[in-house]
Formats: sequence, C-alpha cells, structure tokens
Amino acid sequence: MIESKEILVTGGTGFIGSHTVVELMELGYTPIILDNCSNSSASIIKQIQLISGKECIFYRGDMRDRELLRSVFEKHDIGGVIHFAAFKAVGESVEKPLHYYDNNLVSLINLLCCLEEFKVNKLVFSSSCTVYGVENAREPLNETMPVGKPNSPYGWTKWIAEQILIDIASKTPLRPIFLRYFNPIGAHASGKLGELPLGPPNNVLPYITQTAAGIRKELTIFGKDYDTPDGTCVRDYIHVTDVAKAHVKALSHEFEGTSDVFNLGTGKGTSVLELVQLFEKATGKSINYQFGPRRPGDVDALFADVSKAKKILNWNTERTIEDAILDAWKWEQYRLENEIS
Ligand code: WQD
Repeated sequence: MIESKEILVTGGTGFIGSHTVVELMELGYTPIILDNCSNSSASIIKQIQLISGKECIFYRGDMRDRELLRSVFEKHDIGGVIHFAAFKAVGESVEKPLHYYDNNLVSLINLLCCLEEFKVNKLVFSSSCTVYGVENAREPLNETMPVGKPNSPYGWTKWIAEQILIDIASKTPLRPIFLRYFNPIGAHASGKLGELPLGPPNNVLPYITQTAAGIRKELTIFGKDYDTPDGTCVRDYIHVTDVAKAHVKALSHEFEGTSDVFNLGTGKGTSVLELVQLFEKATGKSINYQFGPRRPGDVDALFADVSKAKKILNWNTERTIEDAILDAWKWEQYRLENEIS
C-alpha cells in the first residue's frame, strides 16, 4: 500500500508520462513531475492543468544531476515513483548509442541511489517489448519468455535496466514493476493533450498525422520486404490512455517475490500499411507515402500476449486502434490551431 499520495513522475511532460499524470490527478494522487524537456515541451504542463483543472508540481531538470534529484526527494514525501525519463527512439539509438546509454542508464542509477537513501520502495519502470529481442519476435510475446537480444541500443538500455533492478531488488526492499510497452499511440480524448515530437517524428503515427496536416510532404514506409502479410512491419498499437491507466493500477499492485513484469499491448498486430489505411478510412484524409529502405533496429513483427496484466492487474484495453487514430488526429489539429509546440 502506498503511504504518501505524492508520486514522482520522471519524464512527466513526455507522451506516456503526461497522460499518466492526468490519470493520477483524476484519482487524487499528487504527481511531482521531473523532466529536462530534452525530448518534450514544457507547454505540456499547461495542457495537463487545462484538463485536470489543477496546478502541476513541475521541476525542470536532468536526472543525471544527482543533487537536483536528491533535492526533490528532500522537498517531498515521495510514496512511489513512475520512471519514464529516457530516450526512446529505436532508429535514433542505432545512430547515437552513447547518447542513449549515458542518458537512460545514468538517470536510472541516480534514481536508484535516491530510492535507497530516502527508503522509497515502490517503483514502476517504463520498459519495452524490445527486451524480448529479435529471436522471440513474431509470436505473441509473454512475460515468462526469457529476455532476448534487443536489436538496438535503445532496447539494450531497457534490457540492462531490468537486470539492474532485478539485482538490486534481490538485496534491498525495492520492489520494481516493469511495464513492457508495445506501441503506445493516440492522444487524450479531450483533444487537448497528445504526442509532441520535437522536429521530425521518429514514431509512425505522429508522422502520419503531420503528413495529413501538410507539415510533412509524405510518409516513408521503412521496408516492404519483411516476413509479414504485406511486407511492412507489424506492431501492437495500444491507446496511450490505456497504457496510462495501467501505470496507476501498477502503483497499488502488491505481489510476492522481489519484482514483477507486465506486457502492455492489445494482443493484436497491425502492419504499417494497414495503419495508414485505417487512418485514411477513419479520417477521410489521404496520406502520401512511398516505400523506402528498412530502418536499422526494426524487427518484422512484435505483438503481445496481454493475459497476465488482464488477470493480475485487473486491467484491460478499453480503446480501439481507430479511437487512437481519431484522438491523435484531433490533437494534431488542436495543437496547430493553438500553436502548441
Ligand atoms: C513503428 C513502425 C517503423 C516511422 C516504438 C517506440 C519504442 C517502444 C516500441 C516503448 C516500424 C515504421 C516509423 C516512419 C515508418 N515503445 N515507421 N516510417 O520503432 O516500434 O518503437 O514502440 O517503449 O520506444 O519508439 O515504433 O513508430 O518508430 O515504428 O515506416 O516514418 O513504423 O519502421 O516498422 P517502434 P515506430
């Protein structure tokens, strides 16, 4: 049980982080956001306040600054932590491995030192389906599978982070829960909060919505020669609000053992080409696209077996891929009309 309702949300101005902050506030928690906005925008704070009708506690800073991180724990009675802060683009991590290892792992280790010093044992960790590795790809991935060999430095940072947490939990009262995301997409149903990539989007749906809005000339589909029905990569696209709600469930999840792990997906695979066609059908907007070379780091197919989270966390996806597409498109139009960037 969490004694204090003050929850540190690292990376809380990011895509999944900001949607989780909204869900926490709705349930009476007090999120404490720490974010250096290196891959997000502080303008998201205003959007969170607009939706929740409440002020946000926000510290702008880098988790690699351990003294800054300690000062947040000294100022607040932190009952638990949801750790989102990390770089997360598969393709970018292949190009800039040190950038990823430095940011994602130094931040985690500083956080763990603070959790030990301030005796905070509840940690929900933002992990990823990429830890299953290439060898497990193509079948519904379940948590009992051994982790594999990730196909990108991004995936390795999540793989290494899980191992660090397992080792520390085996020797301390820390009780981490790993949430392995598949592909979060969409936006808040209000249309007032969503993904806000800085520069050209790495992820496919924001690239599609920006193409539909005329910001991008055309979408390049990376690879049409994968071993999938239409040759384009298959992913498990899950609405970001469903992902956010699972984080709140995980906060109050008590379990045997020293750590626990859950997949967050829908259990259904959708190809890139199918996603484009679903977007066109749902919005009536046509998307210019061309096929280009494969993107380093991608694998053919990744989709989840989500039975464990349904059974143990009593959590289920409530939104469809069409809901996510329409919510993402609504947000894209809202942010352009309101010049949010
Ligand atoms: C999806 C597919 C691309 C852009 C994401 C997150 C990662 C993790 C898993 C949380 C791939 C193709 C993309 C474009 C394209 N989530 N694509 N043209 O790589 O599966 O990873 O989900 O931890 O953090 O980044 O998502 O949206 O980048 O790519 O064809 O312009 O779309 O090749 O096949 P990915 P993505």
